Amino acid sequence: MPTERLISSAPTSPIEEHQNWALRPKTLDEYIGQPELIERLLIAVHAVQERQKTKLDTDPHEHLEHVLLHGPPGLGKTTLAHVIANELGTTLHTTSGPALARGTDLVAALTRLQPGDVLFIDEIHRLPIAVEEFIYPAMEDFKIDVCLDTGLNARTVQIKCAPFTLIGATTRAGLLSSPLRSRFGLAHHLKYYDESDLTHILNRSANMLGLNRPDPSALETIASRSRGTPRIANRLLRRVRDFAQVRTNALVTTQAVDDALSLEGIDPLGLDELDRAYLTTIRTTFDAGPVGLEAVAATMNEDPGTLEDVVEPYLLQIGFLARTRRGRTITQRACDHLGLPPVPHDNLF
Ligand code: ADE
Repeated sequence: MPTERLISSAPTSPIEEHQNWALRPKTLDEYIGQPELIERLLIAVHAVQERQKTKLDTDPHEHLEHVLLHGPPGLGKTTLAHVIANELGTTLHTTSGPALARGTDLVAALTRLQPGDVLFIDEIHRLPIAVEEFIYPAMEDFKIDVCLDTGLNARTVQIKCAPFTLIGATTRAGLLSSPLRSRFGLAHHLKYYDESDLTHILNRSANMLGLNRPDPSALETIASRSRGTPRIANRLLRRVRDFAQVRTNALVTTQAVDDALSLEGIDPLGLDELDRAYLTTIRTTFDAGPVGLEAVAATMNEDPGTLEDVVEPYLLQIGFLARTRRGRTITQRACDHLGLPPVPHDNLF
């Protein structure tokens, strides 16, 4: 079963990352969607800038409070980190939880920072516990306690780092320890984008890609198949652009979108082969559930983490899947959509 897929919300290659990068907003004003978060950030960033203007030179550098962004992949957590650093006029340094395997990795990352810089830690829930403990004093007092030697010779030396802003991103906020979570001044859950925001994003991207005046309804159709995720919307737009260039004389019509996306195996709700295989496995092999994630993953020869992070969130969101204490169950709506046999009566809840 392929894990790389067109509607995956994870970036699929460095080239795609580069193409996405060109389409990303650079400022909070350009950012479409997530209005509550953008307003909170605008206020926080402007407040810091005001304080910076009125502070005496001898005062420590004013910095934005640490920010925790959580939510499904592809909704713009990395983009927002770039936007925030850009708005603050500082440099963004990017790393990830798994890349910070030892305390010394964190010391190296922190000592590179200039006052006011932003350190972005993606997948912060995968930060090893030992490293997490180093990060508390860095977040609170901008210092790191490094332990040298062991036993009787053990000593702790304190290294100072510049005042900085940590932006942590995670798809699994529930896995963060509460001491770590409580050290973020601003925490926000990114929600799936509605179709109108996605259409707006697609319009902006279509302009930037130089598409020949696409039908508004064509962009709405792409939006409705993008699973509430800008990264997917932009990826589908590029597929449609290629299709139109080769097959329809560069005309981006609803029909062209339909044909291009059917060719890619994407159905009218944006579900792809992996979603359908997942739902079909639960319905046919496990009699609609309840079934544990591990059992479904083993049957499909897929990684349970991929199913949990990439496939399930959207199926839960559209009411095709339910998570109960006894496991996953497929809903009647999903069976209707896929033309599967109805959910057995004792499974309806
Ligand atoms: N491109 C990708 N995500 C975007 C967003 N939220 N706003 C504007 N352009 C985008």
